[in-house]
Amino acid sequence: MDYMNQLKDAVRFLRGHIGDPPDVVLVLGSGLGGAFASQVESQRLSYTEIPHFPASSVVGHAGELAWGTHEQTRFCALMGRVHLYEGLPLERVVFAVRSMALWGTENFLITNAAGAVNEDFEPGELMLITDHINLQGANPLEGDNHEELGQRFPDMSEAYHPDLRRLALQCAGEVGIGLRRGVYIAVRGPSYETPAEIRMCRTLGADAVGMSTVPEVIALNHMQRRVAGISCLTNMAAGILDQPLVHDEVLGVTERVKGDFAKLVLKWTERLGAQ
Ligand code: HPA
Repeated sequence: MDYMNQLKDAVRFLRGHIGDPPDVVLVLGSGLGGAFASQVESQRLSYTEIPHFPASSVVGHAGELAWGTHEQTRFCALMGRVHLYEGLPLERVVFAVRSMALWGTENFLITNAAGAVNEDFEPGELMLITDHINLQGANPLEGDNHEELGQRFPDMSEAYHPDLRRLALQCAGEVGIGLRRGVYIAVRGPSYETPAEIRMCRTLGADAVGMSTVPEVIALNHMQRRVAGISCLTNMAAGILDQPLVHDEVLGVTERVKGDFAKLVLKWTERLGAQ
């Protein structure tokens, strides 16, 4: 089955199983899904049950789709994602968000864990993504353009929608959570960066570095959907502190801030529905 038909197959399944598309889709990065799901009532489905959905290669983390209604807003949460470094082509990396958009969802909130490149930032802070730099050396729109999804050369001048960004800042104020603003730079990974690479990222204008999000944001802009992005800054990027980067530290900080993070995402979800 070709790619477009796989997408339509997934949409048929989602429509049959869940019904109308939600008001918003949340893409929740590693460790962030659980905190969100623990604060809302939702129904769940493993990615393995949805036709053609890519399951993560991380053992025991195939990924789950959660859906429900929070304060009148109908949401779907993609808990778990696949990354370019897992060795999949980007069109598979963006398959889940594309199927959500093709189903009819207009609004997306993409989240991730990222390292702080900006030395004024601190681990545990949240950053609203204002713009991005794609340093992955790949783009999900490479190859034949799927005309049904969007045009060959989509505009990216406001990849992170101004209204959704404004709403995120308002919500952060309302729930009393600090929200930094900055540019996210996406690298391929999976090795963390060298200190020289981080200096380069800073020179290029980046405030945070990570290994995800940008492919999804490109694919959704291609489909003219509204996107917002939030990074959970889990560590200072390489070379800033005199210590090595360990994945356990990244997970530990996520654990510490996930409550705040979930609170912000929930408020944003609630307010989005009221718009
Ligand atoms: N670099 C790249 N990806 C990351 C980092 C980092 O420092 N922290 C969390 N994800």
